[in-house]
Amino acid sequence: MAEFSLPANSKVKIGNTHKAEAGAKRVKAFKIYRYDPDSGQNPRVDTYEIDLDACGPMVLDALIKIKNEVDTTVTFRRSCREGICGSCAMNIDGTNTLACLKSIDDVKGDVKIYPLPHMPVVKDLVPDLTQPYAQLASIEPWLKSKSPPPPDEERRQSVAEREKLDGLWECVLCFCCSTSCPSYWWNGDRYLGPAILLQAYRWIADSRDEYTGERLDELEDPFRLYRCHTIMNCTKTCPKGLNPAKAIGEIKKLMVQRM
Ligand code: SF4
Ligand code: SF4
Ligand code: FES
Repeated sequence: MAEFSLPANSKVKIGNTHKAEAGAKRVKAFKIYRYDPDSGQNPRVDTYEIDLDACGPMVLDALIKIKNEVDTTVTFRRSCREGICGSCAMNIDGTNTLACLKSIDDVKGDVKIYPLPHMPVVKDLVPDLTQPYAQLASIEPWLKSKSPPPPDEERRQSVAEREKLDGLWECVLCFCCSTSCPSYWWNGDRYLGPAILLQAYRWIADSRDEYTGERLDELEDPFRLYRCHTIMNCTKTCPKGLNPAKAIGEIKKLMVQRM
C-alpha cells in the first residue's frame, strides 16, 4: 500500500504564546501563521491574546495592534483599511477574505489566520502574487480601440452600456477568489483563474473597447478559460459580493455565439 507523508519542512509547528496583559477582561486569542522561508525553519502558529476592549472591531485592527504593541515581526499587507485596495486578503477562520472587512465578532472561538492558500509565501501572511499579476498583464486590462476618439470629447456610453460593467468594475484584485478555486490550485500556471477572467470580461463587456474578437481569441484555450468547472468557490468567497463564475460563464457564452 502506498504511504504518503508531508515533506518535513512543510509541517506546521506550535509556536509562541503571547499572553494578554494582566487585568484584560475580554480576551480573544489570534492564532497566526508564521513562516520565513529564508530562515530554514518550519512554519509555526503563534498565539496572541488580545483585550478586545482595547482593540478596534475588525481582524485587521487586531493585526495592527499586535504588530504595533506585541510583536513587530508579524508581517502582512494592508493599506486602505476599507476594502478598496485589496491588499489585506488572507484566510481567516477558514475563508479567504479581506481582514479589514472581517469583524472579529463574526469569528466564534480563536481567530485563525493563514495566508491565501496554495500560493508561495514571501513571509507570514504575505503571498507571492507574481503569477496572478503576470496573468493580469497578459489580458491587457485597458481600453483598446481601433478608431480615433471623437474630436474634443470622450468616448461615450449609454446608461445601459455602462450598466453592463456593474459587478465587474468593483473588483479590487484581492485574489481571494482565485486562491479558493481548486482548478487554479492545480493548474494556476496555465488556467487564468476567476479574478483574471472577471477582469478579462470587464473589457470584453465594455462597449467602447474594439478588440473583443482578439480578446476572445486569446482566451480560446483548453487551459486559460476552460479549466473553470463551475465549482463556484470563487463567488462564495468574494468579499466584495461579486460573481466571477458568472463572468466566466458570459465569456463562454460569447465563445459559443461566435462559432
Ligand atoms: S472578484 Fe472578488 S474575490 Fe476576486 S479578486 Fe475581485 S474582489 Fe477579489
Ligand atoms: S466557478 Fe470556476 S473559477 Fe470559480 S471556483 Fe469554480 S472552477 Fe474556479
Ligand atoms: S486594507 Fe485595503 S482592502 Fe483591506
